[in-house]
Amino acid sequence: MIDSGPEWQRLSELARRSGKTALHELFDGQPARFSEFSLRSGNVLFDYSKNLITADIRTALLDLARAAGLEQAREALFSGANVNFTEARPALHHVCRGLLKTELEPVATAFDSEQARCEKLVKDFHANRFTGASGRPFRDIINVGIGGSELGPHLVVDALSPLVDKSRQFHFVSDIDHTHLTQLLAQLNPESTLVIIASKSFRTRETLSNARQIRDWMSASLSGEELSGQLIGISADPRAMTNFGISESLQFRIDPAVGGRFSLWSPVGLIARLAIGNDAFGELLKGAHDQDRHFLESDLETNLPVIMALVTLWNVNFRDINSLVTLPYHQRLGKLPDYLQQLEMESNGKSYTRTGEKAAYTTCPSVFGHIGLNAQHAFLQQLHQGTGEAYVEFLAVAKGNRPLEEDFLLASCLAQSRALLLGTHPKDAVEGDYDFKHCEGNRPSSTLLLDDLSPFTLGQLIALYEHRVFVMSVIWGINAFDQWGVELGKKLNQQLTGILEDEQASIAELDDSTRGLILAIRSARQ
Ligand code: F6P
Repeated sequence: MIDSGPEWQRLSELARRSGKTALHELFDGQPARFSEFSLRSGNVLFDYSKNLITADIRTALLDLARAAGLEQAREALFSGANVNFTEARPALHHVCRGLLKTELEPVATAFDSEQARCEKLVKDFHANRFTGASGRPFRDIINVGIGGSELGPHLVVDALSPLVDKSRQFHFVSDIDHTHLTQLLAQLNPESTLVIIASKSFRTRETLSNARQIRDWMSASLSGEELSGQLIGISADPRAMTNFGISESLQFRIDPAVGGRFSLWSPVGLIARLAIGNDAFGELLKGAHDQDRHFLESDLETNLPVIMALVTLWNVNFRDINSLVTLPYHQRLGKLPDYLQQLEMESNGKSYTRTGEKAAYTTCPSVFGHIGLNAQHAFLQQLHQGTGEAYVEFLAVAKGNRPLEEDFLLASCLAQSRALLLGTHPKDAVEGDYDFKHCEGNRPSSTLLLDDLSPFTLGQLIALYEHRVFVMSVIWGINAFDQWGVELGKKLNQQLTGILEDEQASIAELDDSTRGLILAIRSARQ
């Protein structure tokens, strides 16, 4: 395993030696530290100078990446080899945004034809040629989907809200608790509502239950034919879509080799395409493709996803920091922490390596976050003075759309990362209350600065996070593209749903805690 090699040992040694160095000392000794420890790809600048990283440590991290076979793995990803080694298939999300390797041309052709069908539908939708019953333009569009079938498109619709068609409302329904859906449907007219059922498997109970409720609500006012003209399906399983009553012309295919949490770029992104239009969605794809190209073609030394992954890995594996906190300083990026939680934790929350051994080192950290300003007034206190350490990633947009308070917003972001770096200065202490006001500083953070929040830049950013996840998975020797833990939860859920639905069902086989809770539920229901 990677931790038994000389590269890992060298990094452990460097971590031991640098352990006593304070971050501010690195700045004192290096007047040009920012330019040495920051990197740009397209419209995204990554400043990692506020980490306990030296040139030696960076070199050692790059050696580790090479020893883990990162260059070969990157080649394998882009040429369509089975990088999803537990399910014996490739990971082809990058093909949805452009072709980088000619050997994938046949797959790309199929992907392109599905994109072209989405484009045509969006064109007809905006020209009101694709309409609801009795020719009414669609006013409300509902995306029914969960996890990867919701988070990516939702992030894009929110982040690019100035571009969203204002004559329509775009809704996302994911939770099986029908409260949200019931409240939503009460405000909508079935004749002008378009429903997108997005589910790669088309077996997810939450999604199907919500979709059935909507179908029942619509069929109370629409004929069968009218109804099927307002239901779109997106899945890898065409038969399941047909069985649900989705007409073939409104079925869109997602390839099994495009993972759910990587599927924004596929037809799963349709609601975002409808909201922002084909041109802007095309820019989003171009931005992501640009990042793919950068990741594939740049040396590891100047490769943004690689460096970003190595900084994270350094903090997690060599500085024992097990939390990654993401703080976007922009209201429109409020969905980013949710999106990243799935992307990072569902991808790299694994412990068995490619050789079947259990990793003796930490893999994916816990990821959480919130809009930066709100987080400041909620949980950032703990990051400044709490006992556990976190690695914080700030995200700011240099040119936003909020001219009024833009400076305050950017200053807030810069102030927080400076406070984590420097803490309070002993000379600011008031005698007698020094201890409890004291912030030690010396807490690592990085900052991603976007030039703007355009579709192109957003595409670059999301693809950057995707590739960071891949790089870390390669070094940790795990598979970023499966999710067997989630599958176990689904299996047990099915069994327990059966038990809860049947009052008489035996619970003798269950563990005592689950048995006790089921008895409490049964008794409360009586
Ligand atoms: O949470 C597990 C998961 O399988 C995710 O990977 C996926 O994005 C989500 O459920 C939804 O799955 P589907 O698109 O098949 O409904």
